[in-house]
Amino acid sequence: MQSKRFATLFVTNDFGPRAGGIETFIHGLVERLPQESVIVYTSQQGDTTAYDAKWLADFGVKVIRDKSKMLLPTPRVIMAVRSVIKVEQPKALVFGAAAPLALMGKFLNVPRKIAITHGHEVWWAKVPPFNLLMRLIGNSVDHLTYLGEYTKSQISKPLSKRAKSAMIQIAPGIDTQIFKPVDASKLRLDLGLAEKEVIVSVGRLVPRKGQDELVKALPQVLKSHPNAHLLFVGTGSYKKVLDNLIADRSLQKYVTFTGRVQYEDLTKYICVGDIFAMPSRSRLGGLEVEGLGIVYLEASACGLPVLAGDSGGAPDAVAPGLTGLVVNGRDTNEIAAGLIKLLETDRKAMGQAGRKWAVAQWDWQIWANKFIKLIGD
Ligand code: GDD
Repeated sequence: MQSKRFATLFVTNDFGPRAGGIETFIHGLVERLPQESVIVYTSQQGDTTAYDAKWLADFGVKVIRDKSKMLLPTPRVIMAVRSVIKVEQPKALVFGAAAPLALMGKFLNVPRKIAITHGHEVWWAKVPPFNLLMRLIGNSVDHLTYLGEYTKSQISKPLSKRAKSAMIQIAPGIDTQIFKPVDASKLRLDLGLAEKEVIVSVGRLVPRKGQDELVKALPQVLKSHPNAHLLFVGTGSYKKVLDNLIADRSLQKYVTFTGRVQYEDLTKYICVGDIFAMPSRSRLGGLEVEGLGIVYLEASACGLPVLAGDSGGAPDAVAPGLTGLVVNGRDTNEIAAGLIKLLETDRKAMGQAGRKWAVAQWDWQIWANKFIKLIGD
């Protein structure tokens, strides 16, 4: 029988311990490949000894750390990856994010080469001369994957005819056994939110995610829902700006920040919410967009109505009217009206519909099976 050992090599900057959408996506794929079939070549992120050992113990994944904090397609990194390929002889090579790492693809000899695209490849595809590099990336691998129709339409523009027709949709799925409705009443109590109508928002605190607009919309919501409360889960550089906005409006007692929470606790924190909201907006003239927004799907799987912004591929993560609403992420009035609408809707029915939709359309196994076929065919 053919050995399955290290059949797939991932080359990626995004393997953690740092958290983010690309990391969540890559982890989800890696965890679902056969045990002891994956080797990961990634960047330095401090002392990762225990973290990397856990991947080996739990999933048989061998993690190799380059000496640099950010992997770039330089001759040195190409030579280092070549050495790994020489020893391990993988059948498939997967770039965790296509731009720019997959530029290496041309110089690496592996039977099947795949590069995963996210939201940031949209600007690579749009801005000269990066669009020419995006074309090169497409020609350096067998398949580029895409998240949904929006990102495909943008990323495919500079690609060659062959690369365009070889694009395959691989989206991040949701582990619907982990993200599910759970009783969070104790945590609600511990957070002092027992009597509140909680609007939860999970994500890095950065301008694109629109947490500032939630703060600005809150006074309007409080007029008809005096118990409304914003619960922000996540960390980021925008925290200071948010603190100032909150202080300027004297909203301190209506907003709670939890900071980063452990993955094991995330479901409970989401379930503290009555509704979920993250009104993402595109920035820099449409160059910085939401690729999809895994958090919307995690919230739906937890049975919460979802308010999303209309940035990039984010609308793909909501079935409007059924699982939630999509609003203009730059329009405070529209966001406030959307929040009020979701607070006043039959939240249970919408949450149940969201859960059903997440399980039927977005369960990890659906996308993992497609990915396994892609690397194995
Ligand atoms: N444990 C933990 N704790 N997880 C967190 C926290 C936290 O405090 N904050 C965010 N996360 C997790 C979310 O649960 C989610 O799984 C992920 O980090 C965030 O993913 P996205 O909502 O997709 O946003 P992103 O901007 O980081 O990701 C980018 O790539 C994704 C995958 O291609 C964007 O382009 C997304 O639109 C895209 O879906």
